[in-house]
Amino acid sequence: MRRSVITATGSYLPERILTNKELSEMVDTTDEWIVSRSGIESRHIAADDELTSDLATHAARAALDMAGLDANDIDLIIVATATPDETFPATATVVQKNLGMKGGFAFDIQAVCTGFLYALATADNFVKSGQVNRALVIGAETFSRIIDWTDRGTCVLFADGAGAVILEAAEGAGTSDDRGILTSHLHSDGEKHDLLYVDGGPSSTQTTGFLRMAGPEVFRHAVTNLTSVVHEALAATGLTAADIDWLIPHQANKRIIDGTGRKLKLSPDKVVVTVHKHGNTSAASVPLALDEAVRDGRIQRGQLLLLEAMGGGFTWGSALLRW
Ligand code: COA
Repeated sequence: MRRSVITATGSYLPERILTNKELSEMVDTTDEWIVSRSGIESRHIAADDELTSDLATHAARAALDMAGLDANDIDLIIVATATPDETFPATATVVQKNLGMKGGFAFDIQAVCTGFLYALATADNFVKSGQVNRALVIGAETFSRIIDWTDRGTCVLFADGAGAVILEAAEGAGTSDDRGILTSHLHSDGEKHDLLYVDGGPSSTQTTGFLRMAGPEVFRHAVTNLTSVVHEALAATGLTAADIDWLIPHQANKRIIDGTGRKLKLSPDKVVVTVHKHGNTSAASVPLALDEAVRDGRIQRGQLLLLEAMGGGFTWGSALLRW
């Protein structure tokens, strides 16, 4: 059976670090409130002249370097982003040009914070169908550009960054011992639009708009949806939560991560956490956390990884893979 295996990872964070103390000078908040309600201590913010495509290109280059590949070895680029450089063309085509990739094809996926899971599942299907041998899957965001910096309920949570993986075709036996993506599960519920959305866009207001969120309602749905989509992945493979070596969750809020981990009865030392220093980087958060745990040696070959995320739409999803 044809499988797709993640053979390399990369990430990029803008240089500028924004601390809770600085935010407390901008809006009516405190370091204590932000840390106790979200676990976030600091986050990275893109420079004025840094675009989502620039962040994505840095992350992609890091992944290509790890793999020892050239951009022209890649058949497909997918960029998951809710903050594209322009309304069109796709940010992925800008990354294609930046990397000097002459063939193949590139497109964006929009599923907000679940974007990386949607992009990974899409690339996995292209690889499994035989249409693509190598894919570059990137999550990249400049959420600082759609944040209302006067809204203390949101501006303390979101941030900028990019993460990337290279997915390559490999032969597997078709069992859960195979390396690669074993199963992926995607969901959406358009009825929940008003709980998390951006109040602008080309067709509605002809402006970019700002992120609007009903925080406590989103919080309630998050733990429920994430736990259920993790169980769905385990049920599809006949594995149990005890088999998971690493949970790599969307980094929205430490309390959501802890709540999901508790429901799965996972020891906290099996959960990769970066939210304290990255904030919520939307589609970039899962590949950023993955890259950190790969590069510091926590993730080892043969281990079972569970990736999950939830975002505006609502959208939510999971991927279970063997490293
Ligand atoms: N600093 C200080 N006070 C703040 C604040 C801030 N930055 N933001 C909100 N508050 C206030 C609220 O106005 C509210 O005051 P009130 O009771 O006088 O109205 C109070 O703090 C409590 O707010 P509440 O929203 O109930 O807090 P909470 O414990 O639910 O935490 C969030 C708020 C946003 C951190 C939390 O709801 C959350 O993380 N939600 C999920 C968000 C998320 O992850 N979204 C992305 C999913 S992809």
